[in-house]
Amino acid sequence: MNRKEFLSDCGKMGLAGVTLSLFPWLESCSPKAKLAVQGEKVRIGIIGTGSRGLFHIKHLVQMPQAEVVALCDNYRPHLDNAAQYYPEAKLYDDYRRLLENRDVQGVIIATPLYLHAPMTLAAMEAGKEVFCEKSMAYTLDEALEVYNRRKALGRVLFIGQQRLFDPKYVKAMQMIHEGVIGEVVGVRNYWYRNNNWRREVPSPELERHINWRLYSEYSRGLMTELACHQLQNGSWAMGQLPEKVMGAGSLIHWNKEDKRDVYDTVSAIFTYPNGVNMTFESIISNKHFGMGEQILGTKGTIDLVTAMHYTDEPAPKGSGMHQFIEQIERGVMSNSVFAGTSWAAESSALAPGKPIMQDVKVVSGESSVGAEADGSKELLEAFLHAVITGKQPEKVLEESYYATQFALLADKAMHENAILTLDEKYKVPYEPLK
Ligand SMILES: NC(=O)c1ccc[n+]([C@@H]2O[C@H](COP(=O)([O-])OP(=O)(O)OC[C@H]3O[C@@H](n4cnc5c(N)ncnc54)[C@H](O)[C@@H]3O)[C@@H](O)[C@H]2O)c1
Repeated sequence: MNRKEFLSDCGKMGLAGVTLSLFPWLESCSPKAKLAVQGEKVRIGIIGTGSRGLFHIKHLVQMPQAEVVALCDNYRPHLDNAAQYYPEAKLYDDYRRLLENRDVQGVIIATPLYLHAPMTLAAMEAGKEVFCEKSMAYTLDEALEVYNRRKALGRVLFIGQQRLFDPKYVKAMQMIHEGVIGEVVGVRNYWYRNNNWRREVPSPELERHINWRLYSEYSRGLMTELACHQLQNGSWAMGQLPEKVMGAGSLIHWNKEDKRDVYDTVSAIFTYPNGVNMTFESIISNKHFGMGEQILGTKGTIDLVTAMHYTDEPAPKGSGMHQFIEQIERGVMSNSVFAGTSWAAESSALAPGKPIMQDVKVVSGESSVGAEADGSKELLEAFLHAVITGKQPEKVLEESYYATQFALLADKAMHENAILTLDEKYKVPYEPLK
């Protein structure tokens, strides 16, 4: 594929000018790549047809290259919901039976976290290509096993980290790598909600099946459900992996209502080898600040969620008194301090900021059942393309692998009240996206 072709198709995504070497997994959106697979179909089986499974189905029904031939869920109402979209599909309540179906080429796994690794491994062993929802696994060991087994078997494996395919993130990362915000000196992530994170349960014996997210037997809570998306921003922007993590988690509010045992309040600090910190904070009993993902540079800031670029204002010029008067006129005195004649007021930047691209779709993160136009559709298309060509795109799995490992490591740091580093045995080859 030549560069011109790539750029012309990225132009349709609002990405004219991005460099393929930084985003090798986007290769499938080139006209030539699309043409090469035109008319081909992938026979898909879906395991887990709850909220995310249905979200994917709503995209798949619009994709001529997808033919859903099998559906599996061990909760009948969810299976029936999905079957309405594909009345011809074979229905299963046991995923192992679906994997025996030789007609199925690729599977999409959208089940609770604790099932991701066992199902992914079984599917790859059964000869299927796999798209598994994030996070990749419930333990550090399982994630490594999945990573190594995929390599040994030569299967296609995608994890549901859609920010890697979201045009506004791709554009922002290109700008960051070009030095638009200067040296990256901080990464801030937060995700606040104010809801109990519960799903309605039709009868009490289904509590743990439906509300699996709230119990540590099946879930790692906010770290694997939310943080794994945002942690990926750090390595993507920094071109390196964190060296250590510390964190604190607590259950302070929602446990008054129920018997959950995953934290409803978490904070983690990841430190990179060059000393830069990346923070993640999530509280689900106050939503005022919503969702934020910000890359802070010496010359400016990029807010990834709103796709805005802010420049840090130039240093104030002129005499101390002149600056002082100017600051009064601009009404920014609240955090000013005096320091003799060389005084220069330090205020937060006032520049209004500019959108980094046109027609940006912004999501609040408030919904727990999926957002539109956030890269999820492109991610699914790339998976189908990879199944047709049998080619795993470079680097995309490693980004997902480390997002999972650092989410799990932070959760461990919170539980052990320790500063942790990722053990050497969990390190897989990582080529920074720079
Ligand atoms: N990428 C994203 O932005 C995103 C968004 C939402 C959810 N997710 C992920 O998708 C996954 C599913 O989340 P969800 O919200 O759809 O949960 P859900 O509870 O709505 O759906 C899970 C489904 O799996 C089924 N299931 C459970 N055990 C099973 C088994 N042994 N065999 C077959 N089916 C089984 C359940 O009956 C249910 O229908 C999670 O890992 C979640 O993190 C990702």
